[in-house]
Amino acid sequence: MDVNTHNVGALILAAGKGSRMHSPLPKVLHSLLGETMLDLVINALKPIFPKNIRIVIGHQAELVKSSIRNQDCRFITQEPQLGTGHALLTAMPALRAAGMEYILVVNGDAPLLKTERINWFLNDILKSGANLAFMTMTIDLPGSYGRVIRHDGKVTGVLEAKDYDPLLHGQESDEINTGVYLLHLNSIEHLLKKITCENNNNEYYITDLIALAATSGLRVTGLDQGNEEYSLLGVNTPAELIRSEETLRAEIVATWLRKGALVRNPASVRIGPEVTLEPGCELCGPCELYGKSSIACGARLESHTWAKDVRIGAGSVIRSFCHLEKVDIEPDCTVGPFARLRPGTTLESGARAGNFVEMKNARLGKGAKAGHLSYIGDADVGLGANIGAGAITCNYDGKNKFRTHIGAGAFIGSNSSLVAPVNVGAGALVGAGSVITKNVPENHLAVARSKQKNIPGRGAPAHPEEPDLQADSKNRPDF
Ligand code: UD1
Ligand code: CA
Repeated sequence: MDVNTHNVGALILAAGKGSRMHSPLPKVLHSLLGETMLDLVINALKPIFPKNIRIVIGHQAELVKSSIRNQDCRFITQEPQLGTGHALLTAMPALRAAGMEYILVVNGDAPLLKTERINWFLNDILKSGANLAFMTMTIDLPGSYGRVIRHDGKVTGVLEAKDYDPLLHGQESDEINTGVYLLHLNSIEHLLKKITCENNNNEYYITDLIALAATSGLRVTGLDQGNEEYSLLGVNTPAELIRSEETLRAEIVATWLRKGALVRNPASVRIGPEVTLEPGCELCGPCELYGKSSIACGARLESHTWAKDVRIGAGSVIRSFCHLEKVDIEPDCTVGPFARLRPGTTLESGARAGNFVEMKNARLGKGAKAGHLSYIGDADVGLGANIGAGAITCNYDGKNKFRTHIGAGAFIGSNSSLVAPVNVGAGALVGAGSVITKNVPENHLAVARSKQKNIPGRGAPAHPEEPDLQADSKNRPDF
């Protein structure tokens, strides 16, 4: 990073409730493509401030704190939450104790923030030596954003939407405050105490600092980023969340296409910001890929699949309608269509989990196959073993979970139940329909079902009659 940030810290304001989301979840925990707004903001700041990010939390503080992936952030509790100015005032002692000269303040509800944009802003302002700087945008519909007021080009203040009256404050301003500030702490600290809550929201606004700084002769800079810098837009409502999510989605898909991933039907593909695709992989929309997933070159993900935290190796094919979570699929495997692979599933190279197969905390060894209708939970399936249609592991006795071990080359006949804990030895054969409760030694045949009896004269009472289809159609209502 070009910026010398040893005396600059970052502060994320994330204590608010977010009433306009109409949701019990704190606003900053709403997600875009599977990542919370707060994690996205942290990820944008982390490369510049690897160890120097502080977060103001308040509403459902514990929930917000526990949701954060990055372990290096520090927290400041704001209780009660009396506005963004009050959030900064609450953070002040901690910022002072940390010996910072400047603080970058950003709203926690700006999920599209970009590291490069912040870096550029810091460089520009630190060189110019402003006491207070903030990024602005000029937009067609300023809506609920704070309006920037200038006289002869110089910023004299920011007025919140609810307090802004064009009759009183002059022409409708379409330059808005984006909520990204750089503050020289020594210069603004005494002004912070002058902020009042005498406004239409009864809140202490951080934005009041701007007029206070301007009138006391400090250097105030509003850097206008024009009308296309979508990365600075805030999210207050479900509609704004979806607008920002769609912006991010389209940007991510376009980036992977450019880098050489084949993304078919791109408008319906959702790829999370932490996903990595190797050039030469193929995805077909609609599909969703989230978390820390990675897809290798030559792997293919067919349509209607939802996947999170999966690793898909080269040459593997995920056929349509699969649901995959925390799954490791080695090269040349086939999954689905209609497979559900739950956390802790591993498919070693060349393995196959076919249609209507569910797996959990289980491993299919190299080349092993479960082609149809199986449940494989808490199990190890050896190299080249075959699990017949409808065979299941009974891993749960109502209280505890147990493991099943199936040796290399074993063959489990259709519709068998393997009652765990149980081992089926290498090369063993389990007869179809068996209920296996005891270990099966290597290379043995196990049959555990009652013998078939054929009893004469005890068949079905009569052959069913041919249905009278014509009479049937006459009775049908006329549409
Ligand atoms: C704020 C700005 C507005 C700007 C807009 C940009 C103020 C007064 N207004 O408005 O000028 O155009 O952002 O998106 O700052 N928060 C706290 N503690 C509180 C209240 C809020 O930490 O007591 C946090 C919220 O969790 C949120 C952020 O501060 O992440 C911004 O608060 P919000 O209420 O969304 O401010 P806006 O009305 O959007
Ligand atoms: Ca906001």
